[in-house]
Amino acid sequence: MKRFPKKRVVITGAGSGLGRAMSIEFAKLGWQVCVSDIDTERAKATEAMVFEHGGKPLVMRCDVTQPEQLESLADTLKKQWGGVDIMVNNAGVAAAGYMEKIPLQTWEWIITLNLKSVIYGCRAFIPLLERQGNGYIVNVASNAGIASLPEMSCYNVTKAGVISLSETLRVELKPRNIGVSVVAPTFFKTNLMDQFTSSDPRQRKLADAFFEKSKVTSEDVARHVIRSIKRNKLYIIAQADGKFSWFCKRMTPETYFKVLGWIYKSGLGDRFLGMPKTA
Ligand SMILES: NC(=O)c1ccc[n+]([C@@H]2O[C@H](COP(=O)([O-])OP(=O)(O)OC[C@H]3O[C@@H](n4cnc5c(N)ncnc54)[C@H](O)[C@@H]3O)[C@@H](O)[C@H]2O)c1
Repeated sequence: MKRFPKKRVVITGAGSGLGRAMSIEFAKLGWQVCVSDIDTERAKATEAMVFEHGGKPLVMRCDVTQPEQLESLADTLKKQWGGVDIMVNNAGVAAAGYMEKIPLQTWEWIITLNLKSVIYGCRAFIPLLERQGNGYIVNVASNAGIASLPEMSCYNVTKAGVISLSETLRVELKPRNIGVSVVAPTFFKTNLMDQFTSSDPRQRKLADAFFEKSKVTSEDVARHVIRSIKRNKLYIIAQADGKFSWFCKRMTPETYFKVLGWIYKSGLGDRFLGMPKTA
């Protein structure tokens, strides 16, 4: 982190879950943290926690589905802090469903919130980081973008897009001294289910069961993210199950999908999660 002596970070969706946990971890290191969220009450609660943990908070309301709000966030931080060292595109939502039953509105909603928002965030902040001659972008994707679990197509697609964008920018921005990482966690308990939608109640039960089984906390993931930024890692994969599926998919993709298909068809995954067998 010596690379960033001014210690200034902005995090979208910082009013809850991983965004809040990352805000607190940066605060412990004495950073200025711009806590940005669409929900100002949640952001204010994070602001108090940042302050309590030794950071210097600044709350900014920003709806990541609006490109001009991300541009205005970058402008404000240029004026108030003189720039930003790390920009974290974290805000996101989840949805599931059988492909043909997911309403087109849900597709539009999730693509805008999970993928276009990251595009808007990168577009707004790259010029600022470039002018400074130094900077770092962290995009929060998901293991869903790697593992491609069934009945999650709309979420998987957005997160795979974030991974692809991050890989591209990692190379494209290197000559401009801007680092890029992509975070790909598996399930951990947050408020992500608040806005969750699915085409079938079964999918909500499955998602709830995945969250219930997880022993990993937002704090664990946040600490891993900060350690990985220090080490300039492209892929930030905190949990062991995420590392396992990432490894299998890269090394033996045909076998990976054969096994995943067998598990899905046999209903083994559902039984593991304590669900009745699927059709
Ligand atoms: N929790 C998990 O298991 C998990 C796993 C993999 C990836 N992720 C990713 O982590 C990121 C953070 O999610 P979380 O689990 O902490 O969820 P969360 O719901 O606890 O936090 C998300 C935050 O984003 C904010 N937000 C929602 N819409 C917004 C908008 N339009 N503009 C700005 N902010 C908005 C919410 O107010 C909330 O504070 C998401 O991108 C999610 O996809 C989470």
